[in-house]
Amino acid sequence: MTAKNMIQLVIGSQWGDEGKGKIVDMMAKKADFVVRFHGGNNAGHTVVINGKKFPFHLIPSGILQKKPIVIIEAGTVIDPEVLMEEMEIFSKMRINLKKKLMISPRCHLIMPYHKELDQAYENARGKNKLGTTKRGIGPAYADKVSYNGIRIYELLNWSLFVEKFKFQTEIKNKILVAFGVAPIKVEKYLPTFKKLAERISPMVGDTFAVLHKAIKQKKQVLFEGAHGVMLDNSFGLYPFVTASNVIEGGVNIGSGVPSNKIDEIWGIVKAYTSRVGGGPLPTELFDKTAEGIRERGYEYGTTTGRPRRVGWLDLPAVKYACELSSINRIAITKIDILSGLSSIKACVGYKLNGKKIEFSQCGYLELSKLTPIYKTLPGWSQDISKIKSFKKLPVNCQKYVRFIEKYLDVKIKIVSVSPEREASIFV
Ligand code: GDP
Ligand code: IMO
Ligand code: MG
Repeated sequence: MTAKNMIQLVIGSQWGDEGKGKIVDMMAKKADFVVRFHGGNNAGHTVVINGKKFPFHLIPSGILQKKPIVIIEAGTVIDPEVLMEEMEIFSKMRINLKKKLMISPRCHLIMPYHKELDQAYENARGKNKLGTTKRGIGPAYADKVSYNGIRIYELLNWSLFVEKFKFQTEIKNKILVAFGVAPIKVEKYLPTFKKLAERISPMVGDTFAVLHKAIKQKKQVLFEGAHGVMLDNSFGLYPFVTASNVIEGGVNIGSGVPSNKIDEIWGIVKAYTSRVGGGPLPTELFDKTAEGIRERGYEYGTTTGRPRRVGWLDLPAVKYACELSSINRIAITKIDILSGLSSIKACVGYKLNGKKIEFSQCGYLELSKLTPIYKTLPGWSQDISKIKSFKKLPVNCQKYVRFIEKYLDVKIKIVSVSPEREASIFV
């Protein structure tokens, strides 16, 4: 690796589930560090090796590669049970977690009341529910910014942790009771937290120093973004968003590494659109084409198992993501799922009340009413999942890729044609 491309970021450019896990696993082969810096186990990143699926929720997807040390950095929120389950899976695979995994003491914990509150708010919203993953993400981040959070730092100072847990539970229980939900009993959860504290204490350390030293030494660091730009808390379609900052600036906020250190910003673009959860989706399909894409692409949530909504590629939305995050390289994923369609549509603009409107001008009200402007391109029929070079792809598939590249004005460097680790074409 040259000194130029030492620090890389992988970022979802749509509504999540673009195939970030697959691309991170592949790129992690050469990395010294792979870092998760935001979100929690609302993320579900899948790596497939020789037909075996590995779903990741918290531990960075690079852990299956020999070289990298993986880091869960400050901006991430941690559910103790989920972290321990994941650690158990990788321990059983004889991965030495004491050597491979580091956790920042600054990470906030997802507490039992966060999960209850997430669920209670969703139930109370009724038909206006947002469709969260109910993993407690929003309430955990809300407590973080309002100074009510509890971190790994406190967990490793047990009496302080218990004191804070009891204090917060007393307050949260009043809200839960108002929602008609049974109050939380702290004692029930203490053994789990005690176990987590003991299990992770050897892995908690000064990740800031480790990362900054690595950067000085020109090591290769790969940041694994979660979710997708449309779910960014500030620039996504609020309130149909997640609680963290998904855009490129989230790296600085969540890992302490300044954005200007990043050399390559990889936008992962699924060849069509998918989304779990509520909110408008301009190019959504409800017909047989949608069913076909969902079944062929196995579009069911990695975290919740919910069927994903699907639609044509929404280029104005992806372009907005590229601009927001300085995306300078693109990996197109799941283009194999479009094989067999006689024609493919891509949204190239929007109209509202007969007038053109930009993505950046739209809130959820505009987005739910506008009409997409489509470009129709010819499809291809061949199975492309074993093809290894761009030139061997069907001509119409190549044209679709080039069309996307031209619209976005960002180089497409990878075309992924199957979930398998090796199945990526370098353009
Ligand atoms: P992530 O959250 O962005 O990591 O994506 P998910 O893992 O939630 O969802 C992507 C799904 O598509 C997973 O099941 C992957 O194994 C699969 N996948 C990734 N890339 C490709 C591809 O190029 N072709 C096909 N057919 N599947 C892919
Ligand atoms: P990965 O990393 C797809 C969506 C949820 C919901 C909204 C808010 O696998 O791409 P939350 O639980 O975060 O409060 O839910 O955000 N969402 C995702 N959708 N992939 C994800 O992650 C997501 N993370 C959050 O479905 O609409
Ligand atoms: Mg996912």
